[in-house]
Amino acid sequence: MHMVEEYVNASKFQYKDALDVIEEFGKEISEMRGRCIDIGCGPGNVTKTLLLPRLAAEAELVGADISKEMVEYAREKCSDEKRLSFICLDVQTGDLPNELVAQFSNAFSFFCLHWCENPWRTFGNIWKMLRPGGTALTMFLARNDGFDVYMDVYENPLYRPFMQDVDRYVPYYHRCKDQRSSLRKVLEDTGFDVLHCSKRQKSYVYQNKLALKKHVAAVNPFVNRFPEELRDNFMEEISQGIVKQKILFKNQEDCSDQENKILDIYDILVAYVKKPLGS
Ligand SMILES: C[S@@+](CC[C@H](N)C(=O)[O-])C[C@H]1O[C@@H](n2cnc3c(N)ncnc32)[C@H](O)[C@@H]1O
Repeated sequence: MHMVEEYVNASKFQYKDALDVIEEFGKEISEMRGRCIDIGCGPGNVTKTLLLPRLAAEAELVGADISKEMVEYAREKCSDEKRLSFICLDVQTGDLPNELVAQFSNAFSFFCLHWCENPWRTFGNIWKMLRPGGTALTMFLARNDGFDVYMDVYENPLYRPFMQDVDRYVPYYHRCKDQRSSLRKVLEDTGFDVLHCSKRQKSYVYQNKLALKKHVAAVNPFVNRFPEELRDNFMEEISQGIVKQKILFKNQEDCSDQENKILDIYDILVAYVKKPLGS
């Protein structure tokens, strides 16, 4: 994800869902001290406005993201925060930099880990970055029917050359039958004590098709690969495919508003885990 401004302008539901989880674990977060990391911090707004103020005053927070563009944007927007810094990191790297090993007392990650195709390596790296006794609070997509549309659109020979790695972008958990127990297994296999692991259904209402299209464009991994003459058609087909899966309804209070609103229902996974002392 490199379209920073587009993401900032079309990520209301991510912000809302991150806030829900951060408030739910508010007591635990308020007691967190030391060096903490927010993995997949994106533009840094959740990191700066939702997380940092809730941590203990002496805590320090590092935002980490695979995208150089996201990290540069976050650095610029958060340059006034002395306790906040940003680094580039691929959380599922096979070669975790030594200077990140056992450096963090707490890790967070919101709406990022579904981008990682190898959950064992991903949670293995989170484990390595934590100190013994450290915790991780993560939330990410378990299922969204938008991912099925990627597979449908891939069938179109016009689009296929730009989506050769489509499998990589249909998340591991989206394909699992029982997502919560699959996640619990990964966490336990990694060696974490699982303090909380749940799957939740969430929903968001897009005011119209354009709002949904903007969101889809901001998180679409393929769109930037397309030549300009194909890009609009590709985005239209993806958005149409997604709209077909959703519930459309009219604004009951405002009859002059002829556009349908779009109800998106999706599932998230929330896990709060601890690296045991002495490990
Ligand atoms: C949907 S955004 C979420 C941003 C922010 N956490 C929020 O809640 O608004 C997902 C972010 O994860 C980042 N990301 C994707 N794969 C990653 C990886 N392997 N390692 C680190 N960051 C990754 C993307 O670049 C993007 O900025």
